[in-house]
Amino acid sequence: MLREAPSLQVVGLSASYGDVPAVTDVSLEVRRGEIVTMIGANGAGKSTVIKCICGLLKSTAGSVSLFGEDVTALPADRLVRKGLSVVPEGRRLFTKMTLKENLELGAYTRNDSSAVRRDMERVLTHFPELRDRLSAIAGTFSGGQQQMVAVARAMMSNPKIMMLDEPTIGLAPVVVDRISHLLLEIAKSGVDILVIEQNAEVALSMSNRAYILEGGRVIAEDDAKTLAQSEQVQKAYLGI
Ligand SMILES: Nc1ncnc2c1ncn2[C@@H]1O[C@H](COP(=O)(O)OP(=O)(O)OP(=O)(O)O)[C@@H](O)[C@H]1O
Ligand SMILES: [Mg+2]
Repeated sequence: MLREAPSLQVVGLSASYGDVPAVTDVSLEVRRGEIVTMIGANGAGKSTVIKCICGLLKSTAGSVSLFGEDVTALPADRLVRKGLSVVPEGRRLFTKMTLKENLELGAYTRNDSSAVRRDMERVLTHFPELRDRLSAIAGTFSGGQQQMVAVARAMMSNPKIMMLDEPTIGLAPVVVDRISHLLLEIAKSGVDILVIEQNAEVALSMSNRAYILEGGRVIAEDDAKTLAQSEQVQKAYLGI
């Protein structure tokens, strides 16, 4: 029987800034129904991998496929139409706009306004804490709420797979818990997830599988439980 194509498959990806290599020969995949995490310290190359996948940075080698289709070097807006959505590093909300306007902008690839309204309803079912604040200015929200807005906005394009760049950074533990539960719930609703984290404990606890990135290279990959128990990971990333 033919195996289902992975939702996301990256093979041999390399990228540089000028002459300086940032990631080298990175391969990873996200299969249907999975939450996959990429763990790495500051400067390991995590955001660079994401930027290459989503068409914001040109890779020097390698390929990216979505649901079995080669999408290497497609521009970001084409990838959104193919079902890939990104929650970028630092959230990048429109802080002077309302929550509702931020969500509408997340649906910018679509022009059917009744479908956008329906999607907003569907998305808000995951975010009860945002529902009553649609006309509030996004910049007035707490850090955790702003992160939720960023996730909600990414959901507005009706993605099949979502990539998140350090969604829990700088948030209080209780908010980190809320975000990781939210991602589990979103995954259950049928959206596959690639999440990048420095916080290995949080990342491994919510994921099926994980990759470890060091110096721009994948140095380990395994199911999340196995990695959480490995001595190498415990020493370097879990402080055990
Ligand atoms: N715009 C840029 N110009 C030049 N070098 C860059 C640029 N962005 C990143 N780099 C370098 O590329 C390497 C990988 O950076 P990247 O941002 O991908 O790491 P990261 O794992 O996302 O780190 P962090 O956890 O701090 O976000 C680092 O050495 C960084 O200094
Ligand atoms: Mg980064």
